[in-house]
Amino acid sequence: MAHKPGTVLVVGATGSVGRLVVTEGVRQGYETRALVRGSSRAGRLDTAASMVVGELTRAQTLAEAVAGIDAVIFTQGSSYGDAAAAEAVDYGAVKNVLQALNGRPVRIALMTAIGVTRRGGTHDWKRRSERLVRASGNAYTIVRPGWFDYNDENQLAITLLQGDTRHAGSPADGVIARHQIARVLVDSLASDAADRLTFELVAERGPAQEDLEPVFGALDKDPRGSVDGVRDQPNMPADAEPARVRADLDALGDTDQA
Ligand SMILES: NC(=O)c1ccc[n+]([C@@H]2O[C@H](COP(=O)([O-])OP(=O)(O)OC[C@H]3O[C@@H](n4cnc5c(N)ncnc54)[C@H](OP(=O)(O)O)[C@@H]3O)[C@@H](O)[C@H]2O)c1
Repeated sequence: MAHKPGTVLVVGATGSVGRLVVTEGVRQGYETRALVRGSSRAGRLDTAASMVVGELTRAQTLAEAVAGIDAVIFTQGSSYGDAAAAEAVDYGAVKNVLQALNGRPVRIALMTAIGVTRRGGTHDWKRRSERLVRASGNAYTIVRPGWFDYNDENQLAITLLQGDTRHAGSPADGVIARHQIARVLVDSLASDAADRLTFELVAERGPAQEDLEPVFGALDKDPRGSVDGVRDQPNMPADAEPARVRADLDALGDTDQA
């Protein structure tokens, strides 16, 4: 077990998964801070969490949000198919929080999606957000969930896959309960075994495991210095990325972008 971080910022805290992450963070004893765009959007958030107002698309509004945090969990998401929004929100939130942190190390858990390595407008920006996290030099866990809440009641055995090989674009790719996504994201923060992991998250028939350490520990870690997941198929060559993305990666540090 790694040192348990104290204060956790949840980005996308008002979302269908983000709300559950806030509750799970509180349940696990973290000082949980929810980033919201306005206090009117914060209804139904766990009252034991604190709230901070900021606009995840603008780094200059995030100083208060990142002040003193030990970890950040990203669950934000834009409407599927809107590439401009995906750049501003899915990718922008990661870029802007890292910028606001200004190099201060934090533990990161990032939620993207199963099938994220399949090229296409919205997914490309999620995949690029993964690259920013790997390039940042922080300890991290990248979680690519299957289809939310399509699982049966007895389908709760947490199953982690690598290589992102399921590309049907339907629940046939895998299913997972939202509350289990929240648990995996929060559990990863205090786990050395979960550091430098990229995995797809689905559920198979059976009960949920009490301890995820052996589940994390069975996976391969991403190579140090790589911007891609350990078993991902080559695609989206870094030198073919838009110039602004290459500049963002270059600004973060010394990584192998091949
Ligand atoms: N549905 C699935 O089966 C599935 C499977 C895998 C992955 N995913 C991915 O999971 C992601 C999140 O899903 P979800 O159901 O939790 O989404 P959601 O309920 O729509 O929540 C999205 C979150 O992002 C925030 N957000 C969106 N646009 C914003 C903007 N312009 N500025 C500031 N904040 C913004 C929302 O804030 P506000 O409340 O202020 O709008 C909210 O907190 C999606 O990107 C989706 O692609 C979904």
